[in-house]
Amino acid sequence: MKKGFFITFEGGEGSGKTALIGSIKKYLESRKLDCIVTREPGSTKLGEHLREIVLQEKKGKKISSNLSKTLDPKAELCLFLASRAQHIKEVILPSLEKNNIVLCDRYNDSSIAYQGHARDLGIDKVIEFSSFIIEDAIPDLTIYLDIDPKIGLSRVQSKLDRIESEKMEFHKKIRDGFHILAKKFPKRIKIIDASVSKEDVFKEAIKNISKLID
Ligand code: TYD
Repeated sequence: MKKGFFITFEGGEGSGKTALIGSIKKYLESRKLDCIVTREPGSTKLGEHLREIVLQEKKGKKISSNLSKTLDPKAELCLFLASRAQHIKEVILPSLEKNNIVLCDRYNDSSIAYQGHARDLGIDKVIEFSSFIIEDAIPDLTIYLDIDPKIGLSRVQSKLDRIESEKMEFHKKIRDGFHILAKKFPKRIKIIDASVSKEDVFKEAIKNISKLID
């Protein structure tokens, strides 16, 4: 039975999710609240293997193959969903059962925005298909960090991975996809403007988290 809180963080490339999650973890710990940070794809042995395949990089280094050109969008979706199924079973549900606050860097909304909308598989189709995988592991709150992809991508300092290297049009569609999702699920998904200072983004995120947990 679920007792903790499940909070996911979404956004385009370079939206600052990972740094924000780190600050939120520190804040929650300073309030003596148990929390864990986890991410997708990855966080289990299977997930980390799948991450290397789907992003075509290992420990930050590019793996050379021509997968970028040949990976079918449906196959890509299945790889993310396989990682998610294992993640839910091994990490997310057990942590929620232990009363933890789970802070998850990307989750199902990424599949809907990236594979469903940007790769044209269809938002509703991916929602329906993925519901078989996630069942009731639905976030209590999703914080979506909204940023113009031009600004976001200019912030990415490491070498671009397989998905980051897509054209600007693709990144714009990802942003559209998240906006469509935020309209569809307004209670769960909160949009935060990520172009402002880190401190302001943090304050806005904490406001939303406090409404959930306090
Ligand atoms: P990552 O290095 O974790 O990127 P970020 O720091 O932006 O979160 O790479 C994850 C990439 O995988 C990112 O480009 C988004 C993409 N992705 C999907 O396309 N579908 C998904 O379901 C998930 C979870 C991620």
